[in-house]
Amino acid sequence: MQTDLRGRDLIGDLDFSKEEVETVMDVAFDLKRKRALGESHAYLRDKVLAMLFFFSSTRTRGSFEAGMAQLGGHAAFIESKTTQISHGDTEKEIGEIFGRYFDGIAIRHVDWGVGNRYQNLVAEASREPVLNMQCEIYHPFQILADLMTIIEKKGRDLRRKKMVVSWAYAASYQKPMSVPQSLVLQMPRFGMDVVLAHPPEFELMPEVMDQAREQAKKYGGGFEVVDDMEAAFKDADIVYAKSWGAMVHTQDADEGSQIIKKYEHWITDQRKMSLAKPDAIYMHPLPADRNVEVTDEVMDGPNSVVFDEAENRMHAQKAVMALTMR
Ligand code: CP
Repeated sequence: MQTDLRGRDLIGDLDFSKEEVETVMDVAFDLKRKRALGESHAYLRDKVLAMLFFFSSTRTRGSFEAGMAQLGGHAAFIESKTTQISHGDTEKEIGEIFGRYFDGIAIRHVDWGVGNRYQNLVAEASREPVLNMQCEIYHPFQILADLMTIIEKKGRDLRRKKMVVSWAYAASYQKPMSVPQSLVLQMPRFGMDVVLAHPPEFELMPEVMDQAREQAKKYGGGFEVVDDMEAAFKDADIVYAKSWGAMVHTQDADEGSQIIKKYEHWITDQRKMSLAKPDAIYMHPLPADRNVEVTDEVMDGPNSVVFDEAENRMHAQKAVMALTMR
């Protein structure tokens, strides 16, 4: 067990080794148990987390804020448009100054080609850890919660479990590709056979794909890419189907929206779910475009674990905060 994570940033999924992720899981399950029993676990008394948001959120904000309070500390919600960032505060100034006020800086910035760079520049200037609440490349805390949920439902030994990470149709907006990218980076490390399914225009970033293949090879997981949603669902243990934008293919938003319209049939419905194993779990990070991306029948059905997944955001984040912000 790797126990000394004090002061560490978590921006990309591979910033923590597999052993460190296992430590996060152990601590997260312990904190979940303590909360269920009403046991105090104020490991971060008097500590304050800055939560800097450049993009909207329901779960991330709620779970970080509640989690910090349960750990005995406080989380300050800071919406970027209410700051002086648009009037000139640089990444270095945010890192230097917030690093002196706060004990950790959590940031959500998903703008294409901007968000990840922003977080790394803040981290370079900050004396305290920077935690990625989602950028355009990674959503590491979502994936820690997902891993925790999969362990709860499928057990600790995940070797040879088939996990489908599928693109799904959604018309609301071009969603970030950080969730599928973080999934293909993290899950093969735990021995799962990950099948990534998407129409041709929805490829992930080539460097992330290379890293995912490396992780699969190193840890004995599987990783393959297909362009057929139904073939991917066949005999799956875990179905994780969500929409993302065609940003690698084109950065023209109008062209991206037109491409999405070609694939309306990429919806997760009961017929497709019946191709997976009978005890397959259905996962989605939310928010979802209901009855467009996934039917109500699947989302609210017996195989769906989306609410446990959302709850586990809080436990996994508390674990990382308790380990890094002490
Ligand atoms: N899954 C997720 O990150 O949800 P929010 O966008 O509501 O934070």
